[in-house]
Amino acid sequence: MKILLAGGAGYIGSHTAVALLEAGHQVVVLDNYDNSSPEAIHRVEELTGKKVSLYEGDATDHKRVLDLMQREQPDCVIHFAGLKAVGESIEQPLRYYRNNIDTTLTLLESMAETGCKKIVFSSSATVYGAENAAPCHELMPKGSCTNPYGWTKSMMEQILQDAAVADKDLSVVLLRYFNPIGAHESGRIGENPRGIPNNLMPYVTQVAVGKREKLTVFGGDYDTPDGTCLRDYIHVMDLAEGHVKAVEFGANHTGVDIINLGTGQPYSVLDIVHTFQEVNGIKVNYEIGPRRSGDLPVVYADASKAQKVLGWQAKRTLADMCRDSWNWQKNNPDGYE
Ligand code: WQD
Repeated sequence: MKILLAGGAGYIGSHTAVALLEAGHQVVVLDNYDNSSPEAIHRVEELTGKKVSLYEGDATDHKRVLDLMQREQPDCVIHFAGLKAVGESIEQPLRYYRNNIDTTLTLLESMAETGCKKIVFSSSATVYGAENAAPCHELMPKGSCTNPYGWTKSMMEQILQDAAVADKDLSVVLLRYFNPIGAHESGRIGENPRGIPNNLMPYVTQVAVGKREKLTVFGGDYDTPDGTCLRDYIHVMDLAEGHVKAVEFGANHTGVDIINLGTGQPYSVLDIVHTFQEVNGIKVNYEIGPRRSGDLPVVYADASKAQKVLGWQAKRTLADMCRDSWNWQKNNPDGYE
């Protein structure tokens, strides 16, 4: 199949491009490089020995998206395009709503105009909100998000579901990611955050490489075994392979399916720090600080639906995630620059 990856040069998109090419699919990427680099796609080509059709452009630019879709005629769209920094979304809510909702509408309109009927969407475990106790199951009603970024994901899910009610030929797969970390085993592609990292693993790797002095662990007094928050960390290549399965599932399917992509295994912040140190033989300075507002104590997936419906299960361990994150960081201390 030919797959359009909107926002495909970013962290998850570039790893998914590798997995799709290795599974024999063709890949078209549209990206505005707002938080990504064309170098990631050049490296995807180098890793796989296959070509990617790469377009610079914004997924909110209707003419650009329509021209591209008419020309490439993709069988399926994977929608990764969007802003994703939680803290920034609290400071700039209108920008987040405008951009993220607009990308979704523009892609859906262009699909309708060109007869493309399959879409896979990058959603997030954040849509379960504070109301649902872990493990999160796809049948739970969505909850209240603690920030505008999370609300955009929840609203985009709703828009996609409404579109599928109106068009019975549409196939929508909503993939709810838990906490993707790690990098391609080669160390050639990985996560490349702009400025100070918001997420745990890129912060840990930047402390390890000497770019930041120490990690602040946000809260040591939660009601968890070691007092720090529990999350469902998933290797980005497992996540990427989940997308391949979702695209192949959607090809013979219509309607909406919601699927968690997680391991089902929670780990604490200190588990990450300790495993990272052990696997890589490198020290990570840290201190326990105050809680971060909006953090939930425990979030992890019920991962059984992905196994049942997609025949997919995460294979890589926490040690693999820590080793591959470090391999990427130490070989590319300044990311793609
Ligand atoms: C993980 C744990 C922190 C940084 C968010 C979004 C989600 C998804 C991923 C992104 C928490 C702790 C972190 C640090 C720390 N979206 N931590 N010190 O909050 O689970 O999920 O990012 O695109 O939708 O909500 O991920 O990596 O920020 O935090 O102690 O410097 O690490 O408190 O327990 P989170 P995270």
